[in-house]
Amino acid sequence: MPRIAVLSSSVADQIAAGEVVERPASVVKELVENALDAGAGTIEVVVEDGGRVLIRVSDDGCGMDRDDALLALERHATSKIRRSEDLVGVPTFGFRGEALPAICSVSQLELTTSAEDGAGTVLRAAGGTVLDVRDAARRRGTTVGVARLFYNVPARQKFLRSARSEWRGISEAITTVALTRRDVRFAVSHDGRTALALPPASSLRARVGALWNARYAEGLLEVDDVAGETCTSGLVERPADVGTSTRRIYLSVNGRAVRDNGIVRSAEAAYRSTIPAGVRPSLFLDLIVPADMVDVNVHPAKAEVRFRDRWAMERAVEGAVRRALGTIESAPSLGVRYWPAPAPGAAPAAVDVEVLQAPPVSRDGLFAATPGGLSPAAAELARAAAASVGPAQAEVPELAIPPLLQLRRTYVMFERDEGVVLIDQHSAHERVLYEQFMRQLEGGETPSQRLLFPLTLHLGPAEGDALDEHRAALERLGFEIEGFGGHTLVVQSVPLPHPRFDAERCLRDTLAALSGARAAGAASRHERLAATVACKAAIKAGDALSLAEMRALFVALSGTTLPAHDVHGRSTIVQLSWAELERRFGRQ
Ligand SMILES: Nc1ncnc2c1ncn2[C@@H]1O[C@H](COP(=O)(O)OP(=O)(O)O)[C@@H](O)[C@H]1O
Ligand SMILES: [Mg+2]
Repeated sequence: MPRIAVLSSSVADQIAAGEVVERPASVVKELVENALDAGAGTIEVVVEDGGRVLIRVSDDGCGMDRDDALLALERHATSKIRRSEDLVGVPTFGFRGEALPAICSVSQLELTTSAEDGAGTVLRAAGGTVLDVRDAARRRGTTVGVARLFYNVPARQKFLRSARSEWRGISEAITTVALTRRDVRFAVSHDGRTALALPPASSLRARVGALWNARYAEGLLEVDDVAGETCTSGLVERPADVGTSTRRIYLSVNGRAVRDNGIVRSAEAAYRSTIPAGVRPSLFLDLIVPADMVDVNVHPAKAEVRFRDRWAMERAVEGAVRRALGTIESAPSLGVRYWPAPAPGAAPAAVDVEVLQAPPVSRDGLFAATPGGLSPAAAELARAAAASVGPAQAEVPELAIPPLLQLRRTYVMFERDEGVVLIDQHSAHERVLYEQFMRQLEGGETPSQRLLFPLTLHLGPAEGDALDEHRAALERLGFEIEGFGGHTLVVQSVPLPHPRFDAERCLRDTLAALSGARAAGAASRHERLAATVACKAAIKAGDALSLAEMRALFVALSGTTLPAHDVHGRSTIVQLSWAELERRFGRQ
């Protein structure tokens, strides 16, 4: 007796359904995508009992005539592609012609559709078999009702979760589409109650506001960036807000919602040094790439894509998010102003030269924080100020530094338009040094101080290995190190971030910290090294600062890209607003 037999088409459909139709949420996703592919402007979704009793999706799209409606339930029947080449850059969500037959094979389905107002068709099917076809009056558009999902596959039915959990999946599926197709109106109800009413939205921010709340949406930072062939736009969470509410991750590539851990990780990498390890930001990112750079046909539910040049994509996303974070809380959050404004194109490097050189130790002394002048962000600010004033009054710019006061040898206090501001001196200096060290590691100038009496250090084996691994980078930071054989070394030059700097201790602590860490990519290795050395090298709480030192710290901090955050993601700046003070004094 032969042991192999070709499966009947109904069994084959049920097997295929296992891939496409996992849960009620996948039915909703497929039906909503079909409605979008049909050009719908409004989509209505009715769900009962978490989708286990009924899922009904209605649209005002192009509809189908009778022949097409019958064909739509056949396997591999699609209006969306004809040849395999059409798959490249396919603009529709669907293209396999699998969803309707798969859903139909495991439910009782009613398809009502009309290609023009009035004359329509209603078609009933159960378990993949068409039961009857009749005329129906319907406006242009399509309604697909799916009742009793998995009624004929008890094994699958058993795996359905509670109505609540299935409903959560459905609302997540709709949220995902609603974020990518913001032009479409969505009305969703569950067990007779309105769950979502989303009018067409003019922007991602508006849609996020309608889905959650407007305040949440307003708190997000805009991403808008082009790098190479990748265009990245969207909204991301401010570092200060990360971890304070539910984490939300939504990603689309060429208008298609996808999951992609690599892209998420690159976006998160942009936050490194602004948020504590372990908390993760919310991200809403839309990527546009040339059609031939992605393959959309690699996942049964089309939830993942494959990139031709993943590395370039990930770099682009990381850069885009990093630039978005760089736009916040840069110099203006210190209330820094430049006047008079510099001439356009004039080097703004002359900012408070006297202060930068004031401390007791030459130009490498405290806060030689901006080798080669201002950081790009501060220079940009100066340029912008120049542009707004015009060339007539142009002179050498000067940073307006408010009167500064040190408190408890720990904080530097000053006033600005909005209120009283406190800077944590250690965190702030750490941020300044971190950015300086990163520039040095990426090839910038390396200021260092040659020691009159070279240091001799004896290292343990783990520290010795850490030194071997990081030697070149440490030299870029200003440590000139000579081997002495074995694990004894002689240090000829050291960085000199401030007069109280203890080079030996810094080097030892840094090597100890690095010897415990596991290997990482070059970029993050640099970040870790810069953060570690910055932490060890920065002035400490308890160090008394002279006025000149406080002023230099203020100038240097205002020149960093993220002055409000230290390298561990904690705050460096705390503001007490005048309004808050007035409230406390009962003046309001
Ligand atoms: N809501 C709808 N409005 C108009 N046509 C539809 C709708 N849903 C399905 N169709 C038609 O039925 C075909 C089969 O749908 P489906 O099985 O989801 O496959 P695919 O979307 O991959 O083409 C589609 O190609 C389309 O022509
Ligand atoms: Mg489809």
